[in-house]
Amino acid sequence: MRDVAIVSAGMTRFGELWESSLRDLFVEAAVEALAGAGADHVDELFVGNMSGGQFVGQEHLGPLMADHLGMAGIPATRVESACASGGAALRQGFASVASGMSDLVLVAGVEKMTDGADVTNVLATAADQETEVYHGITFPGLYAMIARAHMAKHGTTEEDLSWVSVKAHRLGAMNPKAQFRREVTLAEVMASTMVSDPLRLLHCSPVSDGAAAVLLCPLADAKRYTDRPVKIVASGGATGSMALADRKDPAVLDAVVTAAERAYGMAGLAPKDIQVAEVHDCFSIAEICCVEALGFVCEGEGADAVRWGMTALGGKIPVNTSGGLKSKGHPVGATGVAQTIEIFEQLRGEAGDRQVEGAHRGLAQNMGGSGASSVVHIFERV
Ligand code: COA
Repeated sequence: MRDVAIVSAGMTRFGELWESSLRDLFVEAAVEALAGAGADHVDELFVGNMSGGQFVGQEHLGPLMADHLGMAGIPATRVESACASGGAALRQGFASVASGMSDLVLVAGVEKMTDGADVTNVLATAADQETEVYHGITFPGLYAMIARAHMAKHGTTEEDLSWVSVKAHRLGAMNPKAQFRREVTLAEVMASTMVSDPLRLLHCSPVSDGAAAVLLCPLADAKRYTDRPVKIVASGGATGSMALADRKDPAVLDAVVTAAERAYGMAGLAPKDIQVAEVHDCFSIAEICCVEALGFVCEGEGADAVRWGMTALGGKIPVNTSGGLKSKGHPVGATGVAQTIEIFEQLRGEAGDRQVEGAHRGLAQNMGGSGASSVVHIFERV
């Protein structure tokens, strides 16, 4: 396998972007990534997208996006793994370059969620239809059950969940691309509207539009495009049971544990070797479960990690310096690529007020549905 580098990135602002269509969002992010590397053509395109068909009635995104980028003719494929579609697309791009199949690959993620679709029902298609959705469950409901399981087993409290949101909004306020650029207090989070007990409005990621793109090539060619490439040192993917009821322990995200083990194994690294991480905090309980599953803390200690500042900027392992899905926004198919861009910028020293001093290695963890699929990538400054 060849070593693979990210040489450039582009990203739209995340939010309710009514003036831009699905293809506009994709083109804006893709053009920024290409321009950053001085490239005007790629060998292959992967588009991460969860549900263009149901959100805006548009499927077949590979050829559509290649065409609107002025590159009709190249191989172009849409990659779907629910909210992990962006991370899954990155994994495909990585494999294409590492294998020698393509030399310059654009990986983009895009979603347009605010154009009037029944968002809650579209998202629920990523849960088990027969055993969960048929009975009326929604994604806030599924994560509320995960939260209740974690609370029962480890004594996690509503206040612990709320600290995750306070941290996310503090960091998101510093991110010019974030959907919510305002800080929130603990009291505000704990008094926000109940969505699905114990999860309140300010424990939830929002409904968002947005796109993100990165350009990959062999590490050996990277200097053609940038003087600061970032190496992708590992890609781990895994799946687990779709239905919560089929899991050994709903408070443990098995697919994340396995994807992380595979990524650490491929890189020959351990959690202690990572200095900055983006994790999939679609609901505040998810960040708590993810930092445990990634091995940054032991099982049951995820709440302490946020409460005592271990995952804050300046802490031992800063998590979600972008503001996370909670504050930056969560256009589902774009999220995995946007997480990658935050780590890319951190490792290049370009994260501004959110910069983690001395960050040398970073990790991005993206997750589909209530955790039935996960992708973990590890990156290194060159
Ligand atoms: N965090 C902070 N503020 C939020 C918010 C969020 N997650 N969601 C909405 N708001 C704000 C809006 O900006 C709006 O503010 P305004 O009145 O100042 O303009 C207000 O709350 C009401 O917004 P609205 O769009 O009516 O909210 P809603 O009740 O329709 O939706 C949720 C709120 C939490 C139900 C929705 O954001 C949601 O479903 N989130 C989860 C998405 C999801 O499941 N993703 C996949 C995860 S696997």
